[in-house]
Amino acid sequence: MDNKVKVDGLTFVPYLTRDEIQKQVERIGESLRKDLEGSSPVFLCVLNGAFIFAADLIREIGINDCRVAFVRYASYEGTSSTGHVRQLTGLTEDITDKDVVIIEDIVDTGLTAQTMIEDIKKKNPRSVRFVTLLHKPESSKTGFTPDYAAFEIPPKFIIGYGLDLDGKVRNLRDIYVIEEE
Ligand code: IMP
Ligand code: MG
Repeated sequence: MDNKVKVDGLTFVPYLTRDEIQKQVERIGESLRKDLEGSSPVFLCVLNGAFIFAADLIREIGINDCRVAFVRYASYEGTSSTGHVRQLTGLTEDITDKDVVIIEDIVDTGLTAQTMIEDIKKKNPRSVRFVTLLHKPESSKTGFTPDYAAFEIPPKFIIGYGLDLDGKVRNLRDIYVIEEE
């Protein structure tokens, strides 16, 4: 793990290692494997941030009779939420009577999650579960609580393992937090 990561004039320090992430992915994967027993779920990966987490999680869950679909939403600029959630790519998969598992990278204000769940429920799924790698409960503006969260973290800006700063540094294997002044 690199000691510090510099991007766009900001400095980030180590926060969660790849091993810690993997342990939590295993824990959540096991819960979902049990909770989805006998189901043919649709995993809905929220682009762009959740692509790495989703890839690891769906392999960990290990249900072969599943489908994977993608939606794309954006709400962030730089290191803070704009308060406006934009759907950039909608769902094309038929999810009628399906158990849908939304896989997100991070829940911050909860606005993206809330908008997305409203959109999904209009398409008549049998059930909707919401999984997130990270949850910042103190940032909530909606009272939204994910069904599964790998980590609860304080309201600080983080990068890596799919999470970006203006589109960059998603490739980092570990998670880094912005350095305090
Ligand atoms: P919310 O709608 O405020 O809950 O924000 C959710 C979205 O904002 C996530 O899907 C991320 O794309 C982005 N986001 C929130 N916090 C962070 C962060 O600390 N680092 C990178 N992206 C973030
Ligand atoms: Mg996102």
